[in-house]
Amino acid sequence: MQIIKAKNYEEMSRLACSLLVEHVQQTESPVIGLATGSTPEGLYKCLVKEFREGRVSFRAVSTFNLDEYAGLSMEDANSYQWYMTDKLFAHVDVPARQIHLPDGMSQDFEQECLNYERQIQEAGNIDIQVLGLGLNGHIGFNEPGTSFLSRTHVVDLDESTREANARFFPSIDEVPTQAISMGIASIMESKKILLLVSGKEKAEALYQAMNSPVSEEFPATILQLHPEVTVIADELALSKVL
Ligand code: F6R
Repeated sequence: MQIIKAKNYEEMSRLACSLLVEHVQQTESPVIGLATGSTPEGLYKCLVKEFREGRVSFRAVSTFNLDEYAGLSMEDANSYQWYMTDKLFAHVDVPARQIHLPDGMSQDFEQECLNYERQIQEAGNIDIQVLGLGLNGHIGFNEPGTSFLSRTHVVDLDESTREANARFFPSIDEVPTQAISMGIASIMESKKILLLVSGKEKAEALYQAMNSPVSEEFPATILQLHPEVTVIADELALSKVL
């Protein structure tokens, strides 16, 4: 695990942005795994700026998002499809056909999960997967107890995760109870993982991810077994680690 210490959220976002831009510039058909939530917002802002200023093009990039809420359509402002369009896709030149998110409105979730796995494999697997970290150690929407062998699957969201995400919804009752998420095994097949962590409230989770015994009870501990993980975290998030 390579740990890069950033002074603050802005620096964390900039460093992650440079790493992705460099990869896109140097790779013929880059395949990037993306996350939603608060953590990567600064990264997406920076990628849009790099594009607008002509330093990078996303024309050859394929993207795969980690997850999507079940039951929210792409027109719903709380869907991850909407989030990604709003924060990144509408502002850069990535072709729509190269953008992938699980379909939260699918009539057949089992089939949707299989299709998603197949699409990732057909793209030759993910080069760099961006991850945020849940307070309970979740990565994607893989909650504590999820099998390390899991592939893209339907998950029941933890109450704590619904509470943490309620800030984006009018009330907690409107936070979906299920999502489709890449599995732990799917994430671990990414060639490189970029874990972004910011803020004091994540310090304990980051400490556990890096130091606790590898266990399905704290999903992020699996990252200790991945050969190419870069953690970019700010001083507050690293306050228990370093
Ligand atoms: C989002 C995702 C989640 C978040 C995590 C942290 O696509 O898969 O695992 O990365 O919940 O969320 P934030 O960044 O909002 O603290």
